Amino acid sequence: MIPQSFPDNRAVVARCADLTRLFGADGATVAAVDRITTEFRRGELTAVVGPSGSGKSTLMYLLAGLDAPTWGDVELDGYLLTDLDEPELAALRHERMGFIFQSFNLLPGLTAMENIRLPETLGRRRRPHDEPWLQQLIERLGLTELLARRPHELSGGQQQRVAIARALAHRPAVVFADEPTGNLDLATGGEVLDLLTELAHESGCGIIMVTHDPRAASAADRVLSIRDGHLVAELGRASAGEIAALMLADAIDAGATR
Ligand SMILES: Nc1ncnc2c1ncn2[C@@H]1O[C@H](COP(=O)(O)OP(=O)(O)OP(=O)(O)O)[C@@H](O)[C@H]1O
Ligand SMILES: [Mg+2]
Repeated sequence: MIPQSFPDNRAVVARCADLTRLFGADGATVAAVDRITTEFRRGELTAVVGPSGSGKSTLMYLLAGLDAPTWGDVELDGYLLTDLDEPELAALRHERMGFIFQSFNLLPGLTAMENIRLPETLGRRRRPHDEPWLQQLIERLGLTELLARRPHELSGGQQQRVAIARALAHRPAVVFADEPTGNLDLATGGEVLDLLTELAHESGCGIIMVTHDPRAASAADRVLSIRDGHLVAELGRASAGEIAALMLADAIDAGATR
């Protein structure tokens, strides 16, 4: 692996400065992410909230190096992403990042355990998994009795817990989650989010979760609110009501300035 640019930054897992992504050309340019400067800490779940089209997914793709900024910088786990070429970015993603999606993205023909081990099996990771860590993670997620089942034999919440195990199996520095509870009912979604927050605290990885749902964001240690690509507010731990009120106030401000 390539040497880190900033090897001794322990508390911060990712940061971005003046991060901007423009789409389109000439008169029809959209700033999906507009001069965002912030940081994300290890051992914390940070929620990024905002309405549809506010730039949440674009921000996540930029932080993960899946898209390149128009200008601005991203530093992730000590690496300045603009210093890396595509194979180096791919290696960094496979070794240091995990991803969780709304649709679980499990392979239907494989058992839960085969799904969890899939990234390792594909041979893209040079390091084998830390087995005691993996066993502990599986127990922590309540999957011990379910490992031989295929996805269609699991509930939605169980499938998402398998996807979480897969995302954390290689001990990533940062996990990106895009609407991880979008396909779950309220109670199941709440349980999955509580587990995610506890795993961030226990494992020390930074989890960055994108959602438009104030209830989902209320499980987070920190909440960033974005609108029209701008970072408009930041909260510590907050209730769903407080987050909803913040999002509504931002919407009213945005309406008033149009
Ligand atoms: N590849 C692209 N080409 C052109 N415009 C894009 C592209 N990707 C995103 N956009 C635009 O950038 C803005 C932000 O989109 P983004 O997908 O980041 O929003 P979001 O907050 O994730 O929305 P949602 O909650 O619906 O997922 C939108 O106006 C969108 O239309
Ligand atoms: Mg999105």
